[in-house]
Amino acid sequence: MSVLVTGGAGYIGSVTVDVLVETGEDVVVLDDLSTGYADSVNEAARFVRRDIGDSDLVTRLVDEYGIDACIHFAGKIAVGESVGNPAAYFESNVARPLRLLDALLGSDVAHFVFSSSAAVYGDPSTVPIPEGHPTNPTNPYGRTKLMFEGILSDYDVAYGVRKVSLRYFNAAGGTALRQERHDPETHLIPLVLDAAAGRRPVIVVFGDDYDTPDRSAIRDYVHVADLANAHVLALRYIRGGGTTRRLNLGTGSGHSVLEVIDTVHQVTGRSVPSERGDRRSGDPTRLVADPREANEVLGWVTTSDSDLAFITESAWKHRS
Ligand code: UFG
Repeated sequence: MSVLVTGGAGYIGSVTVDVLVETGEDVVVLDDLSTGYADSVNEAARFVRRDIGDSDLVTRLVDEYGIDACIHFAGKIAVGESVGNPAAYFESNVARPLRLLDALLGSDVAHFVFSSSAAVYGDPSTVPIPEGHPTNPTNPYGRTKLMFEGILSDYDVAYGVRKVSLRYFNAAGGTALRQERHDPETHLIPLVLDAAAGRRPVIVVFGDDYDTPDRSAIRDYVHVADLANAHVLALRYIRGGGTTRRLNLGTGSGHSVLEVIDTVHQVTGRSVPSERGDRRSGDPTRLVADPREANEVLGWVTTSDSDLAFITESAWKHRS
C-alpha cells in the first residue's frame, strides 16, 4: 500500500513527504517541477516527474505501486497571478486535478486529502473563522480551491470518494531540510527576512488604513511542520473510515504585518527597512482560523513551532 503525493516537490508537499516517510509510509511523488524542486523530494520516496493530469500514467502508477490514497498539493498558489491569468489557474487547479481524480477513481482509489486554502472565505464577516462561515472567494485562486472542494463533495455523494479538504491559513517557516522557495517570492515572511539580510532594499507594508490596532493587516501564520502533521492525521482518518470533511488549519491567533517585521528584527538582530504603501488589491483585513474542528476530528494541534518567533527563526536559518 502506498500514497500518491502530487506536488511533493513543493514547499508544504515536500515537508509532508518527509513526515510520511518518517512514519513508514511508502510514498510516490508526482510533480512536473513547474514550481517545485527535485532536490526537495525525500530520497526514500519514488519520484515521477510528470503531469498530474496524465490519466494513463496515474492508472499505471496505481497498479505498479499499490496506491490506495492521494494527497493532492500540486497547483498554482499566487493570488495576484490568478487575477491576471485565470485560465492557467482553472487548468492547473481544476481541470488537471479532475483528470487525476477520475483516473484514481477508475482504479478504485477513493481516499483523497486536498490542499485547500483560507482564500475560500474571501473577506470574512466573523473572525476567528469557523468552517461553516460562508465562502465567498475574492479572486480566481480562491475560486479554484472552492470549485475543487465542491467537485470532491459531489464525487463523495455520487461515487463514495472520501476526502478531507484542508484549508491552510498562512503557511510559514522552515524545517532542518526544507524551506519556502517561490519564484518570484510574494509571501511576507521570506520577503521581510530578505530585507533584514540586505537582499531587498525595503519591505513595503501594504496598506496603512486597516481597521486593526496598528493599521496593518492580520494573518494566522502556521508552521509548515504543523501543517505536514495534519496531512498524516487526515490520511489516517480517511483510511480509518472517516467521513468527508473540510477543516481549517491555523493557530487561532493573528499577527499584523508590523508585528512580523518587529519579530524579524528581534530574532535576527538586524534592522528591517520598511515603508507604508497602498493596500494590495483583494487583501482581507483579518484572516484568522477557528481550528477547533481539526482538533476534534483529527486530534490536530499546532505546536510551539507555530510561535511567530520560532517560525521566523526556522526560516532565517535558510535565508541568513
Ligand atoms: N504583505 C505586505 N508586504 C509584502 C507582502 C505581503 O505588507 O511585501 C502583507 C499582505 O498584504 C498580507 C500579509 O502581508 O496582509 C501576508 O501576505 P502573504 O502574501 O504572505 O500571504 P496572503 O495572506 O496574501 O496569502 C497566503 C497564501 C494564500 C492563502 C492565504 C490564506 O499565499 O494562498 O495566505 O491566508 F490563501
